[in-house]
Amino acid sequence: MYYVGLLGLGTVGRGTFEILSDPAGRNPLLSEMIVKKIGVRSIEKHRALQLNQQVLTQDLDSIVSDPEISIVVELLGGLEPARSLILKAIKAGKHVVTANKAVIARYREEIYAAAQEKGVYVLIEGAVGGGIPIIKPLKQSLGSNRIQSIIGIVNGTTNYILTQMSENGADFADVLTKAQQLGYAEANPSSDVDGLDAADKISILASLGFGGHIKREDVYSEGIRNITATDINYARRLGYVIKLLAIARGNAGEDSDRLELRVHPTLVPQSHPLASINGVNNAILVEGDPLGQVMFYGPGAGSGPTASAVVSDIMNIVAILKSHGTGATLDPLLSRTHQHYCQITPIEEIESSFYTRLITLDRPGAIGQIGTCFGENNVSLQSLVQIGLEANQAELVVVSHNVKEQFFRQALESIKQLEAIKSISSVIRVLD
Ligand SMILES: NC(=O)c1ccc[n+]([C@@H]2O[C@H](COP(=O)([O-])OP(=O)(O)OC[C@H]3O[C@@H](n4cnc5c(N)ncnc54)[C@H](OP(=O)(O)O)[C@@H]3O)[C@@H](O)[C@H]2O)c1
Repeated sequence: MYYVGLLGLGTVGRGTFEILSDPAGRNPLLSEMIVKKIGVRSIEKHRALQLNQQVLTQDLDSIVSDPEISIVVELLGGLEPARSLILKAIKAGKHVVTANKAVIARYREEIYAAAQEKGVYVLIEGAVGGGIPIIKPLKQSLGSNRIQSIIGIVNGTTNYILTQMSENGADFADVLTKAQQLGYAEANPSSDVDGLDAADKISILASLGFGGHIKREDVYSEGIRNITATDINYARRLGYVIKLLAIARGNAGEDSDRLELRVHPTLVPQSHPLASINGVNNAILVEGDPLGQVMFYGPGAGSGPTASAVVSDIMNIVAILKSHGTGATLDPLLSRTHQHYCQITPIEEIESSFYTRLITLDRPGAIGQIGTCFGENNVSLQSLVQIGLEANQAELVVVSHNVKEQFFRQALESIKQLEAIKSISSVIRVLD
């Protein structure tokens, strides 16, 4: 028998416990695992689970130091005590499974160095994409490819909000309130709506796909708070949907040792595979040589889906322990780690096409002046459309060709100085 210690019995911990305590009809390895202890904050909490209360403890250290437990499953969330407990478990020679993207995105190097030294696994399938298998495919099934890009919708909350805004013409604030009532968004939604959760996840995927550590602070992130129903509507008329994309892209040529790494709302062509990913679902499109494109799609969060990923990691470890015993050398594919940090291209140097919505006073020559500001800063335009006109004001929607972000920003600065400009309402990058 293999003894498992769970840290946390919340959304994912509960799903994990439910799978482990109901092995019938699943992989026979599950019958060889016993949940020995579960660490929680409150023992008294009513949990509506068939559970021997004796396994619950508030003493989380007693789990990571229990000599009988060989696998510690960290499902607490947050940075501390999660990070310290993971490190203590590793130090005590235990394999670790975690769904904690925040900890892995920030302390990956420290945790993996400790794990290598002790010869234990740290598996993280539940940390990105919930129930979607993406970590193991990047480590193993796609390992023969030179990865060119990883582009994902990796945050279900923001995808739900954008889908609702798009389908019902609703405003961000109203949909956020509804998402909070339905339990899709946290009371403090910042991590989701400001793009921070997606940035954690893309840094993990990029690290695996491109083979280097990523400094979390190098990931540019911009959230969806400023997206309006008006922009979603105009985007649709231009043939796009707006999605919060997490993008990791290798560069060709001279810049081949640098990565583009960013999270921001993006106009996605309606024909693109990611355009039809709606609601709380996630999808990750990986492009590699020689494979071409492959898309992973499914439930990106939730108790059952995330627990499915967590338990598959536990099973992997048990399968290895069963076939090799505890003292075996680590499987280099499952335990792969890196020696160097990836160089990240600053956002100002990345080339994108931009959608911009401007409000101008209805003055003769205003459009010409705007065109001149773009031209003087090397920005060429795909289209410029005057969409609305009311109370002596005009609304212009401009889509540029690909241009370095710094040139586009310079052009906007000079446009802001024009007397005819009332406001630059939105600037959103367009997926090429
Ligand atoms: N929820 C999802 O859909 C999802 C999807 C993918 C990944 N994840 C990741 O999975 C992890 C767990 O998320 P979750 O949604 O399951 O969290 P959750 O519902 O908030 O549950 C957290 C659990 O940990 C316990 N806990 C937290 N801090 C503790 C402390 N200091 N001492 C003792 N116990 C503590 C809580 O105890 P009590 O029960 O006593 O309060 C609770 O059982 C996070 O890293 C999250 O990012 C979640």
